[in-house]
Amino acid sequence: MRRKWVGGNWKMHGSRQMASRMTGAIVDAEIGDVEVALFPPFPYLREVCAASAGSKIAVGGQDASEHESGAYTGEVSAAMLKDVGCRLALAGHSERRQYHHESDDEVAAKVAQILANDLTAVLCVGETLREREDGRTAEVVSRQLRAVIDRCGITAFGRIVLAYEPVWAIGTGRTASPGQAQEVHALLRSHLGAGDARIGGSTRIVYGGSVKPGNAAELFAQPDIDGGLIGGACLESADFLAICAAAG
Ligand code: 13P
Repeated sequence: MRRKWVGGNWKMHGSRQMASRMTGAIVDAEIGDVEVALFPPFPYLREVCAASAGSKIAVGGQDASEHESGAYTGEVSAAMLKDVGCRLALAGHSERRQYHHESDDEVAAKVAQILANDLTAVLCVGETLREREDGRTAEVVSRQLRAVIDRCGITAFGRIVLAYEPVWAIGTGRTASPGQAQEVHALLRSHLGAGDARIGGSTRIVYGGSVKPGNAAELFAQPDIDGGLIGGACLESADFLAICAAAG
């Protein structure tokens, strides 16, 4: 049985005050048998790590450089994330792929760096609306997944959470139906399982894209949906906690 996982991706929102308040509210809440991770903006990582120290809440960076260290102005390394107390990092979020032109190879290199620093990687994959309408969803998510399998090896997925985030559902209020999401999750799981049956069975595949308290339970009830990566709804602790409860 896979333990459910819920992550809150704050994106470029918040303030120091919000970081302490939000984290405090989540740490103080009764969270059932679900793993919870928060992904605040880089400047607030220390606040969130401090406010969640000693709790079950894990903290992660929203991105990590593909390089170990060096002259890469504006970048943050996986080692730095680890140094300030992070246990995870996102890789390949669609906003990074789209606005920063991150290629599949670059995302795979980021995952390799994240894993090399003993952090859990949360690998995001997902198709655009155009790609879905062209009937290319399976091809696109399979290609994005394949790049990481080729670079890091299938057993690396023992330390990877896979997030299916259809780009057309992110921040749009347009959620994939539970059936649509389940179909892609099952496909991703079958790819993992073809590489290694144990990895196929144990990898958490979570859904992201307009998850709200009102639709979370139905999504998380699907056989291959192991939780969610939450954007907008994680900025209100009550909503985020309701989503965690739906997973617990
Ligand atoms: P929304 O929940 O705002 O659609 O964002 C999802 C997401 O991108 C999480 O990483």
